Amino acid sequence: MPKISTTAYLDQRPGTSGLRKKVAEFKQPHYLENFVQCILDAAGDVAGKTLVLGGDGRYLNAHAVQVILRICAGNGVGRVIVGRGGLLSTPAASHLIRVNQAHGGIILSASHNPGGPDADFGIKYNTANGGPAPESVTEDIYARSQRIDAYHCVETDDIDLDTLATSHLDRMVIEVVDPVDAYADLLKTLFDFDLIRSKLADGSLSVVFDAMNAITGPYATRLLVDELGAPKDAVLRGTPLPDFGGAHPDPNLVHAADMVARMTAADAPVLGAASDGDGDRNLIHGAGLYVTPSDSLAVIAANATLIKGYSAGIAGVARSMPTSRAVDRVAKALGLPAFETPTGWKFFSNLLDDGRITVCGEESFGTGSNHVREKDGLWAVMCWLNLLAVRGDSVRDILIDHWQTYGRDYYTRHDFEALDSDAANRLMQELESKVDTLVGSTWSGHRVLHADNFAYTDPVDGSESARQGIRVSFEGDARIVYRLSGTGTAGATLRVYIERAESHPERLLLDPQQVLADLIAVAGDLADIRGFTGRERADVIT
Ligand code: G1P
Ligand code: ZN
Repeated sequence: MPKISTTAYLDQRPGTSGLRKKVAEFKQPHYLENFVQCILDAAGDVAGKTLVLGGDGRYLNAHAVQVILRICAGNGVGRVIVGRGGLLSTPAASHLIRVNQAHGGIILSASHNPGGPDADFGIKYNTANGGPAPESVTEDIYARSQRIDAYHCVETDDIDLDTLATSHLDRMVIEVVDPVDAYADLLKTLFDFDLIRSKLADGSLSVVFDAMNAITGPYATRLLVDELGAPKDAVLRGTPLPDFGGAHPDPNLVHAADMVARMTAADAPVLGAASDGDGDRNLIHGAGLYVTPSDSLAVIAANATLIKGYSAGIAGVARSMPTSRAVDRVAKALGLPAFETPTGWKFFSNLLDDGRITVCGEESFGTGSNHVREKDGLWAVMCWLNLLAVRGDSVRDILIDHWQTYGRDYYTRHDFEALDSDAANRLMQELESKVDTLVGSTWSGHRVLHADNFAYTDPVDGSESARQGIRVSFEGDARIVYRLSGTGTAGATLRVYIERAESHPERLLLDPQQVLADLIAVAGDLADIRGFTGRERADVIT
């Protein structure tokens, strides 16, 4: 096979979810090629095997897909299943890997980061179970990237990926598939489409979904409009664009402002939702009431048996460490096992594969189940639609009922973005060094009960992940967590997660920022955020 000489780039260490860099960095000579070759080398023997390939359609997606096909052919890959136009949502890619028993898949996305020539691109590898590669594989990719001196690549014109067809590149088969079909079939097995369709038809249920000019446009149109009969304008910003129309495809209250405005208007639909660049995140909004991802996970877990695909019950639940403990309360009440994992979806994979959990989620707008090995935005939307159709209540009623039963975990995340990396690292080091001495200290009346640097031992394979964030628990069931982001592309981002449980029936409907104001101040003092970063307040509050 033709071998092309190259020089190693030393900055190709995958983060929380693959390698994310500015487009300009990916455009450096051989930068993408190097990384893809390292993926294939770390993926084990790919000769003759099947891989899945697709991305969220952002700038560079179309070019990268062509490059990857040439390198796959150069490495003797047997077959590549590509979404038409090089497009696949992350959960759909995960499903295609599983349903085709592929060796793995390459997904092109920088998730919720902006796209375009001056914005972000990303690439990640998923293994045969459909989930993000575990750390052992991503570290192997990184190690190989440090010493790569050649890659294998065939020469060819661009392949036509706009036609559903099977073709050959050298001896490799390229199968272009509809990006939505298999995924839509999967969701039909999990949710009661007939019931939802009838409730949408009689007007007792209504939905608006913001696809943010990103990958979920065609998926949402198929599911909500074509299959369930919602009106066409139920899908906002439904056409995927390489730069997401200049918008930020991050489903939060700021970036999904139009949907949020619809949901806070007098004639709001029953359910409002949004998904991100690659379709794995979700935002859930009721009429006049936003549902935090931590609460959404807890509500789905508590009501799972009302949802068609989960009617036999769930095996257990898991949440990432900084996610609020709302789902733990549900698990306790239902006698289900509950797991606390480090940040990043890959840590759920073993628990799902081993049948220990059925649903899991992260505070960062990620929710999912054992149907794939990625979080799944439209899956969460379908869960809520199914739940609303069965219960006939509003989102508000369901949430209030939930809080009355289990208590409410007031929760907020404060992000300090684009910090000087050295300053952010010093802040974390200082916190780490004083963790052992925090217990017993009191901060504005809040006494520390427990503090540690979260370490996780995977109960399935025994692998260990240390230093996953500082946890500080206080009297009164309150908690503050600090960690640095592993997905940013500019400087460092400090994430501070603040929460407090409340079960008093008259204190369930307060404003989280007010309820948590004193703890937010403690979070700043305890880590001396102002001293280290010069910042008075967070850039993004969710
Ligand atoms: C962020 C989220 C994390 C999520 C990841 C990938 O990572 O916090 O929960 O798994 O994006 O979507 P972070 O930037 O915090 O490392
Ligand atoms: Zn995403």
